[in-house]
Amino acid sequence: MNSTESAVRSRYANAAKAPEAALCCPVDYDKKYLEAIPAEVVEKDYGCGDPSRYVREGETVLDLGSGTGKICFIASQVVGATGRVIGVDMTDDMLEVARRNAPVVAEKIGFANVEFRKGRIQDLALDLEKLDAVLKERPVASAEEFLALDVLAAELRVTHPLVADESVDVVVSNCVLNLVEPRAKRQLFEEIFRVLRKGGRAVISDIVCDEMVPEHLQSNPELWSGCISGALTEEGFLAAFEQAGFYGVEVLKFDAAPWRTVEGIEFRSITIQAYKGKQGPCFERNQAVIYKGPFKEVLDDDGHRMERGRRYAVCDKTYNLYRKAPYAAAFEFIEPLSSIPLESAAPFDCTRTSLRHPRETKGMEYSATTDASQCCDGGSCC
Ligand SMILES: C[S@@+](CC[C@H](N)C(=O)[O-])C[C@H]1O[C@@H](n2cnc3c(N)ncnc32)[C@H](O)[C@@H]1O
Repeated sequence: MNSTESAVRSRYANAAKAPEAALCCPVDYDKKYLEAIPAEVVEKDYGCGDPSRYVREGETVLDLGSGTGKICFIASQVVGATGRVIGVDMTDDMLEVARRNAPVVAEKIGFANVEFRKGRIQDLALDLEKLDAVLKERPVASAEEFLALDVLAAELRVTHPLVADESVDVVVSNCVLNLVEPRAKRQLFEEIFRVLRKGGRAVISDIVCDEMVPEHLQSNPELWSGCISGALTEEGFLAAFEQAGFYGVEVLKFDAAPWRTVEGIEFRSITIQAYKGKQGPCFERNQAVIYKGPFKEVLDDDGHRMERGRRYAVCDKTYNLYRKAPYAAAFEFIEPLSSIPLESAAPFDCTRTSLRHPRETKGMEYSATTDASQCCDGGSCC
C-alpha cells in the first residue's frame, strides 16, 4: 500500500466520523433536494461542486468517491424512481454512514434507487468486498499466497466486475479525482470511459491548479489528502479526458475565486462535461454541415477544422454526433437530396477535412427552377 493512498483512507475514515472543516469547500446545492437527506450526511460535505445538477430523469448514475452519499442522494431524487444511482468509495467508514442513511432517504422520497459499493475508482472492476471475503477465509501468509490472490483478483474483475463495461449513463464525481495517485491517474480516466455506455457522459467537479504542483508539495501527505497536491492543472485536467477518448469536453463551471492558494499557486473548483461515443466506422452519405460561428474557425476532437459559414463533408457518424449535445446549436445540417442507405454507403476518409460542393448533396444533374417559397410568417419574403 503506498503512503499517499493510506493517508487519504485514514483522513477520510476520520472525516466520516466527525466533520473536518479544512476539507470543506462551500457549495450551493439545490436546497429542495437536501431536505430529504439526514444532517449527518450533509454536514460531512467534502465536495467542491455539484455535478448532480447535470443528471436527468431515468438515468443510471455512478458517483466516484461517494463519501457519506450526499451527491448520490441528490442524484437519486433527480433521476427518480426509473433511474438508479451507484456510489463507489474505498473507505469503510464512509460506506457505513452512506449505507446506514440510504433507507432513511428512501423512506422520505418514496423509492429506493441508491446502492453503495466498495472499490477504488481507478480499478472499478475489482469488488473490494468480494476480496475482503476471500481474505477472511484465506489470509495471506506467504509470497506464494499473495501471488495467488493477485490471480484471483484478476479473475474477479472479469467474472464479478464491481461496475460492468458500458453500464452507466453518467459518471459523476465531486472532489475525488485529485486524490488518486499520479501513476494511477491514466487508468482512472480509462476506467471512467470503460464503464460509460456509448453516448454516455462524465460530469466531474474537482480541484485544479493554475500552475504545476512542485515535487515538495506533491510529497506532503497532508496536502495530498486535503485535495491540493494531486490536483491536475486546468489544461491537464481537460487533456486527460481527451486522451481517454472523450469528445466535446467543456467547462460547465469555473470558480473565479480560488478555494486555496499555496505558495502562489491557485487551487480552484471546476466542473466539466465530456462525452463518450466518437469511436466507430466512418461512412459517406453525402451529408454536409456548416459551422455557424461566432468563431472564425473550430477544431473538433477528431481533427476536423472548419471555417465559419462554409459547407464541409462529414461522415455519417460525425454528422449524427454534431446533431446532439454539445454541438447541435453550432451547426446547420444539410441532407443530400437523395439519401444513401447506410448498408450501401462507402467508407469515408475522416483523416482529412474537405469542403462539400453543393452539387454533391443536390446531385450533379440537379437543374430545378422554382417559384418563391412561402418563407415568412404567412406573408411574402419581399
Ligand atoms: C473529498 S471526499 C469527497 C466525498 C464526496 N464526493 C462529497 O462530495 O462529499 C473524497 C472521498 O473519496 C474517497 N476516495 C478517495 N480516493 C479514492 C479512491 N482512489 N477510490 C475510491 N474512493 C476514494 C474517500 O474515501 C472520500 O470518501
